[in-house]
Amino acid sequence: MSSDKVTFDFKGKSISCRPGTSVAVALWEEGVRVLSHSPKYGRPRGISCARGQCTSCLMRVDGVPNIRTCETEVRDGMTVERQDTGAFYGAGMQKILATADNLFPVGFYYKWFTRPTALNRVFLDMIRPLTGVGRIPEPGTELKADGLSNSLVTDLGDFSKVIVGGGPAGLAAAVESSGPVLVLDEHHECGGQRGTALREATTALGNRLERFPVLANSGRRLDGLIKDFSARPEHTFLGGVRAVAGYPPNGLLLRRENDLATMNFRELVWAAGAMDTLGLFPGNDTPGLIGPRALYRLLLRDGLDVAGRQVLILGNGIDSWLSAVLLAERGARISLVITESGYHTEISAAIDAKWQLTTGFKLASIRPHGEGQLAATLVSRESSPSGPLHSHLQLEADLAIICGQGKPTFDIPFQLGIDMSLQQDRGGFIPTGAGESSVFSGRLPDGATVAVVGEAIGETVMEPIVPPGKQKNGHPEGSAQ
Ligand code: FES
Repeated sequence: MSSDKVTFDFKGKSISCRPGTSVAVALWEEGVRVLSHSPKYGRPRGISCARGQCTSCLMRVDGVPNIRTCETEVRDGMTVERQDTGAFYGAGMQKILATADNLFPVGFYYKWFTRPTALNRVFLDMIRPLTGVGRIPEPGTELKADGLSNSLVTDLGDFSKVIVGGGPAGLAAAVESSGPVLVLDEHHECGGQRGTALREATTALGNRLERFPVLANSGRRLDGLIKDFSARPEHTFLGGVRAVAGYPPNGLLLRRENDLATMNFRELVWAAGAMDTLGLFPGNDTPGLIGPRALYRLLLRDGLDVAGRQVLILGNGIDSWLSAVLLAERGARISLVITESGYHTEISAAIDAKWQLTTGFKLASIRPHGEGQLAATLVSRESSPSGPLHSHLQLEADLAIICGQGKPTFDIPFQLGIDMSLQQDRGGFIPTGAGESSVFSGRLPDGATVAVVGEAIGETVMEPIVPPGKQKNGHPEGSAQ
């Protein structure tokens, strides 16, 4: 039986949506923004990463708790509930936790035990085996994981060179390799997190994409890399595969749909890119606030319906323009706040497209506003939040996309034993000693190597061929409608 609608139950209410989308997206389109609450303060949580890598969308589905609803497809007749409704989440418990707050400062669980380095090393060596990263699963082992049922682990064998990440950095590393390489990516096609989004923008806009040089140039660069990669028959691309864990000295655990597999490598190139980060400002955990990578997945994978919605895009660089183009093509009303100078050609195109455009301001705070809405307060870049009234601006939206520098992914090199240090200017943890370099290369105890490249080391790899600083047209900054 085929139907163009699927119906499921949420809090006793029947929700109808199109098949093939995720539970989280179906709820968002229905006006349900809050999917869970934070464990410590009970703060509301909505769709966040849309990638199965946080806890914001955990709900009870058909009685089963801790289901990631951003990665769970809607099914006819399913029952969806919020799971964090017990006494622990009540106001009384929150008060107790708040009273003892000084004992557990924000982030204590990842800030403690990091210094001194030698002690941290001992701590990690002790805790890794306890947390399950100590031994790679034996082939034939039955594993149960989120969304998996009775999956048997298979062994893919030994590979000389494995690249995790099929975006520009991973493809460039593959093209430069002399011997055969295996490229793994969780997307089904080459191109990485922005690849599908760039392809859709190219198809939708055709020649009009030239109005946005940052996108047209990035698309051309990506196409060139994919062509060069395809011209090397000794290389293999394996899509739809997620590297879920690294096992010292040189093992990887992979997941492809319902299957788990292990492999060993002699050389690993970690080119897994970056994760969305929203930055530090009051209200940065408000449901309805997401990063561009999550937006690409919600639009292109789940078909998020944004027609007629007001969407606020804040930030700079390729992701602001790519988000705006995709959203506008799908009928959203765009409010674009550009926080960096340059991009004059793109700004002219935005004015011609009649997008609401603001420059010269930065984000001060975001708060929920009315039913499922957000209100963003912006302040002039020249003044403090306590400055004169005319330097403030308030914008309202159904959804806000914050486009800043992504946080480098580092989990698997770290699990394999590569030391990581926090680098504020690169937005997160990168290998210790990487310094200003755009490539890190480290040796593992048995002689295998790990290299970290691209956004995973804090590089911006999809910048326009003509950097914005070189566009010296002297476009005046200010607010334009
Ligand atoms: S895991 Fe679903 S939003 Fe992050």
